[in-house]
Amino acid sequence: MDPSEQRIKIAVQKTGRLTDHSIDLLERCGLKMTKSKDQLICYGENMPIDLLLVRDDDIPGLVSEDVCDLGIVGLNMVEEKRLNREADGQPAQCKRVFQLDFGHCRLSLAGPEDTPYDGPKSLENTRIATSYVGLLNQYLKSNNITAEAVYFSGAVEIAPKLGRAEYICDLVSTGSTLKANGLVEKEVLLESEAVVIQTQKPLGEEKQALVDKILQRLDGVLQVRESKYIMLHAPKSALAQIRDLLPGSEAPTVLALDGSDDKVAVHAVCRENVFWETLENLKAAGASSLLVLPVEKMLA
Ligand code: PRP
Ligand code: ZN
Repeated sequence: MDPSEQRIKIAVQKTGRLTDHSIDLLERCGLKMTKSKDQLICYGENMPIDLLLVRDDDIPGLVSEDVCDLGIVGLNMVEEKRLNREADGQPAQCKRVFQLDFGHCRLSLAGPEDTPYDGPKSLENTRIATSYVGLLNQYLKSNNITAEAVYFSGAVEIAPKLGRAEYICDLVSTGSTLKANGLVEKEVLLESEAVVIQTQKPLGEEKQALVDKILQRLDGVLQVRESKYIMLHAPKSALAQIRDLLPGSEAPTVLALDGSDDKVAVHAVCRENVFWETLENLKAAGASSLLVLPVEKMLA
């Protein structure tokens, strides 16, 4: 077998809103990489994993066609390509395995701020510019609306000014693109974020073991993002109340304090951020010597 076949290939967006986060995430999983001269591949140095840097439109296809084993891409793109494949009579060939909690955005319908809008029926017999023809048509169909999807590969927001469409259907994140173009959001079709997709083809034992390891590390990285390790001293009498105040923690460790009969030390991993308010409430409940530490790695 070709030795390169044994390496895991992960498709990642080359330039765009997901790129830095995706690479950062994989680095936090312990992957060290060098970029090829043409900037199209990142070769893993310490693990048999390579990243293919591609356009995000291509990622679901590359994973579906088994060119890549995994991909990191927006749910918007995964769903659009799934609908496109479905329309062509091809089955979906990749599965979603993970939500990554970054790259949050939404696919929305928007129109000029001076156009009166009275719910989805206002879209009847209009033209709607979009790169997401599949998702738009699905929305129109489920709302029984007849409207024309006008395909734009980019710069969708200028379509109304060009007189090519009355509305647009595009990704919105901060909303500044819409604002800059005098457009107002009318309907949200899909809430999206970055996800990991995997090929449905069986990978073989060795490769699957490596994929499982990466997914487990990704899970660890995501879990620690908000997690904090909290240490405090508590009067035994207030222990139950203090436990209840610890955000998102299971079974804290309770330790004896040298030379103290009425106080104990409490250590806990909190799966949510610990705010000043929480510390103040803990203190009011009788806790002292409070210490909050970031969690660097976690393996459940
Ligand atoms: C999307 C979308 C808008 C912009 C919206 O494009 O097409 O142009 O983001 O973001 P905002 O609400 O924060 O202004 P994207 O950056 O994904 O790139 P593309 O249009 O080149 O595909
Ligand atoms: Zn855009």
